[in-house]
Amino acid sequence: MDKYVVRGGNPLFGEVEIGGAKNAAVAIIPAALMANGVCRIENMPRISDVDLLLSILKQMGAKVRMVGKTIFEIDCTGVKHSKAPFDKMRRIRASYYLIGSMLGRFGNAKTAMPGGCNFGVRPIDQHIRGISAMGAGVEVKGGFVYAEANHGRLDGARIYMDKVSVGATMNIMIAATTANGRTVIENAAKEPHIVDVANFLNSMGADVRGAGTDTVKINGVADLHGGAHCIIPDQIEAGTYMAAVAAAGGEVLIKNVIPKHLDCIAAKLREMGVEIKEYEDSILVKRTRPLRRANIKTLPYPGFPTDMQPQFCAVLCMASGTSVITEGVWDNRYRYVNELKKMGAQIQADGKTAVIEGIESLTGAPVAACDLRAGAAMVIAGLCARGTTEVEDVSYIERGYEDFVGKLKCIGADIAVITEPDEPKSTDKEAIAG
Ligand code: UD1
Repeated sequence: MDKYVVRGGNPLFGEVEIGGAKNAAVAIIPAALMANGVCRIENMPRISDVDLLLSILKQMGAKVRMVGKTIFEIDCTGVKHSKAPFDKMRRIRASYYLIGSMLGRFGNAKTAMPGGCNFGVRPIDQHIRGISAMGAGVEVKGGFVYAEANHGRLDGARIYMDKVSVGATMNIMIAATTANGRTVIENAAKEPHIVDVANFLNSMGADVRGAGTDTVKINGVADLHGGAHCIIPDQIEAGTYMAAVAAAGGEVLIKNVIPKHLDCIAAKLREMGVEIKEYEDSILVKRTRPLRRANIKTLPYPGFPTDMQPQFCAVLCMASGTSVITEGVWDNRYRYVNELKKMGAQIQADGKTAVIEGIESLTGAPVAACDLRAGAAMVIAGLCARGTTEVEDVSYIERGYEDFVGKLKCIGADIAVITEPDEPKSTDKEAIAG
């Protein structure tokens, strides 16, 4: 059981390198199951969600080789069955991509219902509607999902998504690559990692067009061969360091980013009085003045990302005036507010809205990471708080941030990891990881 101990007050200076996008990697690894041959993946983020998915593939019979610090070769040629280890699947939301890739490769899938960070109800009805429209019989029973293509292979279909869903768009896209005929996904999500996953699938011989727009067209091919791909930089990891500099003050060059993907985060920080300079593949963030209030509404891409909402809430705690956050994606994404209140934050959260009264300074306190991004928010709050903040349950943070502590230390943060003896794990905690 690790915890982070953060002593607040140090401004941040220097350079930080961003890793590969978590939410692309966690779809690309299951998608590699579709290939007969070796998939070479570069810029793989070194996070525990990636380790878990790689271990699921290995347990199913895949060969996984690390050939560089962030380069992996995955060969699923030897995987002969469509049954993934249920206990591991339940620990991660992105395990739902195995439903699409197993259906695409074997024509059937038997999986556990995916786990995931607890932001309220996280249904997979859009995923199921999509694969059902492609001719799969699907049954969800007792925490398991059973799916079987009618003729051993899915059929292309026109699918209109009732709700813009990142996961359902990618899952249907993956499954459709080897379906009979053409699949068209309308009202698709447009996040940058959807384009990235489409590029990976195309490197394996798939024919996916229009990813990144609201209409994705997939012409099914007979089978997929090995591919090669370099994962895009993580938009949310970059945004988190931008928020950290805004909160703590200082000047940091954030390297290996695609500035276009950070447009709405940069715009919001500028509104708050933070200076931002964009270069070709890096972004400079400088904060010397007090922060101004801002209102934020989270929306699907290109809107403000919901996965940056907790981190910005932490920053706005110190902005002058009253800020309002409206959560436009999830039903219950303010569980962390109680933790920030322990540090003196003045926040009223009700339903989808949080009203934040800016204060001069937060005060260090023992807090918990309720989920991945909420954990990052606690660290950000700790960086600018008076005194010491101890963040517990940091395994959530490590699911999605590569060497968070090491990278923060390099830019001057006073943060350390303390390892305490393990307590027996509660089943509850296992159930909500992802
Ligand atoms: C992904 C990200 C998550 C991020 C979210 C939105 C991964 C592993 N996780 O989650 O970090 O917060 O995108 O950017 O990539 N919905 C349905 N039915 C469905 C699917 C979704 O009603 O079948 C609803 C959800 O409850 C939510 C909204 O649609 O309100 C968006 O969810 P979705 O985009 O699917 O999120 P995930 O792909 O699970």
